[in-house]
Amino acid sequence: MSGTALVWLEQNLGGGWGGGCMSMHSPWPRGFQRMRPLAGPSSPTGALELRGRGGGRNRPALGCKASGPPAGGGVSGAGPELLFSEPRRGRAQLPAAPTMAAAALGQIWARKLLPVSWLLCGPRRYASSNFKAADLQLEMTKEPHQKPDPSKPLVFGKTFTDHMLVVEWKEETGWGQPRIQPFQNLTLHPACSGLHYSMQLFEGMKAFKGSDQRVRLFRPWLNMDRMLHSALRLCLPSFDKVELLECIRRLVEVDKDWVPEGKDTSLYVRPVLIGNEPSLGVTQSTQALLFVILCPVGAYFPGDAMDPVSLLADPAFIRAWVGGVGDYKLGGNYGPTVLVQQEAKKRGCEQVLWLYGPDHQLTEVGTMNIFIYWTHEDGVLELVTPSLDGVILPGVVRQSLLDLARTWGEFRVVERKVTMKELLRALEEGRVREVFGSGTACQVCPVHQILYQGKHLRIPTMENGPELILRFLKELKEIQYGTRAHDWMLPV
Ligand SMILES: Cc1ncc(COP(=O)(O)O)c(C=O)c1O
Repeated sequence: MSGTALVWLEQNLGGGWGGGCMSMHSPWPRGFQRMRPLAGPSSPTGALELRGRGGGRNRPALGCKASGPPAGGGVSGAGPELLFSEPRRGRAQLPAAPTMAAAALGQIWARKLLPVSWLLCGPRRYASSNFKAADLQLEMTKEPHQKPDPSKPLVFGKTFTDHMLVVEWKEETGWGQPRIQPFQNLTLHPACSGLHYSMQLFEGMKAFKGSDQRVRLFRPWLNMDRMLHSALRLCLPSFDKVELLECIRRLVEVDKDWVPEGKDTSLYVRPVLIGNEPSLGVTQSTQALLFVILCPVGAYFPGDAMDPVSLLADPAFIRAWVGGVGDYKLGGNYGPTVLVQQEAKKRGCEQVLWLYGPDHQLTEVGTMNIFIYWTHEDGVLELVTPSLDGVILPGVVRQSLLDLARTWGEFRVVERKVTMKELLRALEEGRVREVFGSGTACQVCPVHQILYQGKHLRIPTMENGPELILRFLKELKEIQYGTRAHDWMLPV
């Protein structure tokens, strides 16, 4: 058991938090509590170990329908047609488990020990309003695919691993059993509401393989929070974030040999939830489908050079507005941006700087949050990013940069509105040091030019090091690849 063993658990039974997405100062999002370990790292009989996976006595084994040779060795010794969900010894055991996830499962099982009167309040509803990682069914692929050649560059989102997670939901019966199954096409009714009315949301997060060969997910709790937030906005079914995260962790574990090892490479994790209503009314879905797929991805900036991007800032294009849904990760927010991205390309720019309002507030860059590192008008050195006012997506990397910078305490870190007028003045007065975007794909991406009202504004990001960007990248890398132990990482 790791010395940093922590227990995290849901605050609300039933998992339906609709609250804010991020904790501002704690690495633990609202709804995930950090608790002291149930047992110290050296205790051989501590509660965490007893509940733990990887051979723990009380561990429920992964339901396993092994119909082919294990791909990537995720499950060893699984015989054919094994289907069980009760503890078994010596069969279908996954490798040693991270203590946090084990402890979370412990918390979940503990609920079953609540008094009968509580169960009578709605056992049926309880049984279906959440799916449970302990009920996972595993079907290993019979035809494992060739892993990508590490000497060739990996194009983002084009290579997929051997397995996927699928969970179905129906209004009458609730959530079904979660399944890890061979990666395959979906079969959808042609009237599926996810296809007609953008009843669709998604997430994006990454797992990293350290030099110690351990795979770790970066702040996945924040993605679970944001995903549930999006689901509630679309009237799609609620789910237990702890359970979904444990299912995802196990999916990554099954396909862990797909996590690339090259410099700055990672495994991109894409959870999706769609309305699967097989009828044409614009109404709440009575069916839904949750699935998770995985893509090995290469370095965003191949080689050592960091390529800065140029931006088109045209207030004629609006990504999101107050009262809208720009702060949710809904597929419907993205399709309409492709045309604007093409317009940026036509005008010689690489990405779009999304402006908003009559005062041309800077909001986001393409699919990234925006940061400016400058000396403010009041003479104070600061890092500023727009506040989460309903127009901005609460990015996980955004939150991480704010958290890191606040920990350093070396300059002012502020979330507030920034306008083009302020930026123009600061550029004229030579106060701007660095402008950059942040997001899971690139982590941090420098900006060197903005096309605004017919003028190319030169941003001196690269001339200034870029000192802050490089420092952020270095710190993030140390945390993500496990050089530095950090409770932002969930070991797989
Ligand atoms: C519109 C938008 N803003 C910001 C981000 C960055 O969010 P994160 O840091 O969670 O990747 C994304 C990421 O997909 C995005 O789509």
